[in-house]
Amino acid sequence: MRVFVTGGTGTIGAPVVAELLNHGHTVLALARSEESDHALKGAGAQTLRGSLTDLDVLRAGVAESDGVISLAFGRDYSSAEALAQGIAEEAAALAVLGEELVGSDRPIVTVSGTPWVPGRPSTEADPVPTDGPVGGRGRSVTALLALASRGVRATAVRLPRTVHNEGQGGFAGLLTDQARRAGVSGYPGDGTQRWPAVHALDAAVLFRLVLESAPAGTAWHAVDDEGDAVRDIAAVIGRRLGLPVESVPEETFGPFGPIFAMDQPASSAYTRDTLSWEPKHPSLLEDLENIQP
Ligand SMILES: NC(=O)c1ccc[n+]([C@@H]2O[C@H](COP(=O)([O-])OP(=O)(O)OC[C@H]3O[C@@H](n4cnc5c(N)ncnc54)[C@H](OP(=O)(O)O)[C@@H]3O)[C@@H](O)[C@H]2O)c1
Repeated sequence: MRVFVTGGTGTIGAPVVAELLNHGHTVLALARSEESDHALKGAGAQTLRGSLTDLDVLRAGVAESDGVISLAFGRDYSSAEALAQGIAEEAAALAVLGEELVGSDRPIVTVSGTPWVPGRPSTEADPVPTDGPVGGRGRSVTALLALASRGVRATAVRLPRTVHNEGQGGFAGLLTDQARRAGVSGYPGDGTQRWPAVHALDAAVLFRLVLESAPAGTAWHAVDDEGDAVRDIAAVIGRRLGLPVESVPEETFGPFGPIFAMDQPASSAYTRDTLSWEPKHPSLLEDLENIQP
């Protein structure tokens, strides 16, 4: 399959590109800078120059491909406004990608987050939240999946809070960045809240499996660790950086504060059983041992 990929230089995107190329697919990747273009070509992809906001470039990418994997997302989390802008850009891009595929029965795989359900791990059958600081992302993916009824094999891979590689990435990566800035490895609340996680190389395999075979309108959980206590994550970060580990106010984490404070374990039993997906790479707590002071 010739696959149009956005976000192909990211923590998840780079392994997705490699996974596709290693399994006989070709990749046309969106590249918004010279540096990204160089990295993607070096990985073996062809490139299409443009940004997520260049909607005509996105249309051209769909026209030239047999399927799409949408991963690009702006990483400016510095304020609620910046986060909202990133969400709006992704929403507009997904709407265009989906619309271009209507009636084609071609696949598009997009990214979503695992939902949270009080008192138990969330499953693939639970709906994603459509309110709160990232509710707009839930609304975008829900709209995309609804295109299943209009001849689009639209699917979503729901990612856990932390998708990691070499000790970096995701919410645990944000905790590490914050610890370096503040000189304290902090966690909100009492730190017993659990976050799920997966290694990026394992997540990449699931993106390929879903692209190749998942039915229209379905959502899947790329979860390896069902839930690590945030206090345990902060403890490894603190030890690796030689910093004290302590509870800090939720506001320390800006717009993500309320999400960081929540207990949100997630299961992938259905995904593993149905798609024969089996994570093989290190768990989050093992991978965080790669953090360098
Ligand atoms: N990592 C996680 O733990 C995690 C967890 C849940 C969900 N997710 C979601 O999974 C997706 C991929 O995550 P990631 O960790 O791989 O992200 P990442 O490492 O931050 O990479 C972001 C990617 O998006 C591209 N990008 C950002 N803004 C763009 C724009 N305006 N135009 C074109 N390309 C743009 C970047 O390109 P450049 O290289 O050119 O900057 C890069 O390839 C995102 O939607 C993210 O929100 C990630």
